[in-house]
Order: sequence, then structure tokens, then C-alpha cells
Amino acid sequence: PLVTSTEMFKKAYDGGYAIGAFNVNNMEIVQGITEAAKDLNAPLILQVSKGARAYANHTYLIKLVEAAVIETGLPIVLHLDHGDSFETCKSCIDGGFTSVMIDASSKPFAENIEITRKVVEYAHDHGVVVEAELGALAGVEDEVNVSAENSSYTRPEEVQEFVSKTGCDSLAIAIGTSHGAYKFKPGTKPQLRFDILEEVSKRLPGFPIVLHGSSSVPQEYVKMINDNGGNMPGAIGVPEDQLRHAASLSVCKINIDSDLRLAMTGTIRQFFAEHPDKFDPREYLKPARANIKELVKHKITDVLGCAGKA
Ligand code: G3H
Ligand code: 13P
Ligand code: NA
Ligand code: ZN
Repeated sequence: PLVTSTEMFKKAYDGGYAIGAFNVNNMEIVQGITEAAKDLNAPLILQVSKGARAYANHTYLIKLVEAAVIETGLPIVLHLDHGDSFETCKSCIDGGFTSVMIDASSKPFAENIEITRKVVEYAHDHGVVVEAELGALAGVEDEVNVSAENSSYTRPEEVQEFVSKTGCDSLAIAIGTSHGAYKFKPGTKPQLRFDILEEVSKRLPGFPIVLHGSSSVPQEYVKMINDNGGNMPGAIGVPEDQLRHAASLSVCKINIDSDLRLAMTGTIRQFFAEHPDKFDPREYLKPARANIKELVKHKITDVLGCAGKA
């Protein structure tokens, strides 16, 4: 069934693991992710951004995810990623999502509280849970663009007031991750701020924390892209051992999108390079879907630790 994340997060927090939240935009991505979760009996969050809704249309995405629930029999959370306003959140709540994120992290603290509280009120009235965000991630998204200089870590001294005044169900924090495939300056050593995570968790015992920007940018796929006509020099992500560590702590949801994009694009680029005569989309989408499935199986088993927890 489609479920909220409440029980999932409770079990993940106590069990010292995290749930993968994977972004979906089309059928092959939904299938690759959900087939992996089914094989491993893993709990799963599928998330949809504003850009995904604009690309694929709300109804198509809902129906694809409902199809995945039928095919896998798994409990799946359908989550709005980076909701930018009350209206976007309301439309997803009314339209069948079980979880929404209101991302007012770029607004002043008091305004973030005010918007988040309004979303929480409406969501909870409709049985839907809410993720909010404090602190700003660096990086570029369709709708959100925070430059590295403007990014700021979450301030642990603010989290208790924020959570108690908003009533949000989980909290995304900024500890050095960023969106996209270029997360750290080449030549520097990627290091998340686990000291901040620890300070936050101390102030919010038992409360589920969310990590955005958690792709590891597998170098095998960066190479596959660059070897087959692509140009992504210096693409680098979060080391998987740091994600594994975060999953063992209060982090209950780990967001991954870029890795799926890299797997899909690398696979298709290589297919085209090797088969310049082929033009049936099924022939190149099939290996792309298979590699997304392999990637997600790897994340579930070796990074998130949620295999067998559904
Ligand atoms: O956080 C951003 C996600 O990767 C979604 O990206 O806005 O391009 O769909 P998008
Ligand atoms: P990545 O770009 O690291 O995959 O992050 C995805 C994300 O945070 C979606 O909200
Ligand atoms: Na955890
Ligand atoms: Zn994000």
C-alpha cells in the first residue's frame, strides 16, 4: 500500500539504518527502483519534485507509483520533494501523496516556521506527514539555486524551537551535502559535518533527520559518460562510508537522484556508442533500467542498511 513514513522512520531510527528516497520522473526509473526494493524486501520512499510534476504530469506519476505498489506489494511512501509553497503542498496532499516536503529554508527563520506550520496543519488534517528544512544546501536544482557561498549549515540551537513550533514530522539539515554531481571542489577531501548532526540529534532525541544531496556520484558512471561523448570533468559526490555512518545515526531518510541520472545517462550513451544503428527506445531503456535497479540494490544493501526491513 501507499503509506506515510511514520512507522518506517521509527523502525529506522531504532534499527540504526535509513530509508532511500529516490526521485522518479518516468516509468523506467520507477520500475528500476521498485524492482530492486522488491527483490530485497526494503521499505521505500519515491519522491517527486516540482520539476518532475511539470515534466511527467501529476496523474501519470501517481498512477506509475500505484502500479509499483500493485506489482511489488511493498509499503511505499509517495513524497513531494522540495515543495516550494503551501499551494504546491496542498495540491499533492489533495492529489494522493502521503508525505510532502515544504522547503522554506531560504526564507528567514520566522517565515520558515510560519509557512511550515501552515502546511503541517493542512497535511495532518489529511493524514499526510511533513518534512521541513533548516539551513541551506549548496548546489543547483531546477527550482532552487543556492550558491556555495550562500549555503549555510543548520544551526543546532534553532532546531528545537523550529520543530516544536511547526509540528513537522522530520527535518532536513545542511551538514555539507549539496545537490547535483559536483558536490566538492576537486582536490579537497569531502567531509560531512557530523559534529553538527550530533548536536542536532542531542537536542531532538528520537526525531528523524533527513539528508538531501546524498548521491555518491559513482566514478564508474562518470567514466562511462566521459568515455562515450559526455563531458563531466570533476564530478564528485559524498563518499559512501560517510552515508553509511549517517544512516547508522539519527538520519532516517537519504535522498538520491543524481546517481540515478548518471546510471541512466552513462548506460544509454554507451549503448548508442556501441550500437549506432539502433533506434528502438526499448533497446536502450532496458539496460538503463537494469543498471538503475543494480545501483539501488547496492544502495539498499551496502549503504542504507534497509534490506529485509519492509
Ligand atoms: O533536489 C533536487 C532533485 O534532484 C530534483 O531535481 O528539480 O531537477 O527534478 P529536479
Ligand atoms: P542528489 O543530487 O545528491 O542526488 O540529491 C537529491 C536530493 O536531495 C533530492 O531532494
Ligand atoms: Na538512521
Ligand atoms: Zn533535495
